[in-house]
Amino acid sequence: MFEPRVFIEKSVNEIRDKTKNEMVIVACSGGVDSTTVAVLAQRAVRNNLLAVFIDDGLRRENESNEVLRTLKNLGIRVRKINAEDEFFKALKGIRDAERKRKKFRKTFYSILGKVVKSEKARWLAQGTIKADVVETVGGIKTQHNVLEQIGINPGTYGFRLLEPLKELYKPQVRMVARELGLPEEVSEKMPFPGPGLAIRVLGEVTPERVKILRKATKIVEEETRRLKAFQSLAVLHEDKATGIKDGKRVYGDIITVRVVESDDGITARAMRVPYGLLKKISERVIDEIPSVVRCLFDMTDKPPATIEFE
Ligand code: XMP
Repeated sequence: MFEPRVFIEKSVNEIRDKTKNEMVIVACSGGVDSTTVAVLAQRAVRNNLLAVFIDDGLRRENESNEVLRTLKNLGIRVRKINAEDEFFKALKGIRDAERKRKKFRKTFYSILGKVVKSEKARWLAQGTIKADVVETVGGIKTQHNVLEQIGINPGTYGFRLLEPLKELYKPQVRMVARELGLPEEVSEKMPFPGPGLAIRVLGEVTPERVKILRKATKIVEEETRRLKAFQSLAVLHEDKATGIKDGKRVYGDIITVRVVESDDGITARAMRVPYGLLKKISERVIDEIPSVVRCLFDMTDKPPATIEFE
């Protein structure tokens, strides 16, 4: 049986032994995986730790403020990097899902490599978990945070990696987070993909299209919170459809809503969301987002679909 207390002691000791008082940078998106790593690293190296939150312009509404506040409350020193322009420039013109992920990965680690260098650190700690590795190595999709396992040497970006969670699945990570005393908003937080809204905007990722999806994401998350789903999300389609707004024909955007139950993200079931709630989500999405004319609900399990659309 998995014992979080034993795991914590072992991984804190391992981080301490490996890093030998050298400075550690932790890449923190505010999710349960990376925040758990930040707290483990803090226990191991104390002041020799800097958390870095990269604002890539692809997070949920207000996410950056919330993440910075949580890390500060945990007593972790944090630096925010504003990199929206860099990410949008890197993603410009790319429509293919795997190319997006690879571009995202390259931009993400290049930025972190610069931080590691400027802080005179040698180590980058990150929240890669077993499911990320299994999906990437198994050829399902290239998760942005899997490097060594597919032959990418982190040394090319100028650091060595610490991945204390790489043998754990999500339920065990949550057990560790609870044992570490992380606030519930973090230990029970819904998974969110590393490349963020970029892989839910089908087709080209532009600031305008991300803005539309960010609004839809907020509505879907608000309305489905009480369902306690493993994940609930919105997707912006590349195709358009005809609708009627203010009595006029509009050729507008399509949003799909996806709500899934799962233990570890490796398999998932589409949740039976009450019809009245679906109707409310659809009405809000169309009323509150001017460009949207249609809202669909995805009933596919994983497999055959994956949880994300890309
Ligand atoms: P899929 O779409 O493969 O997703 O069924 C399984 C879980 O992984 C998340 N996901 C990602 N997480 N980088 C991440 O850090 C990624 O590139 C990525 N792609 C998918 C997804 O949200 C779900 O929880």
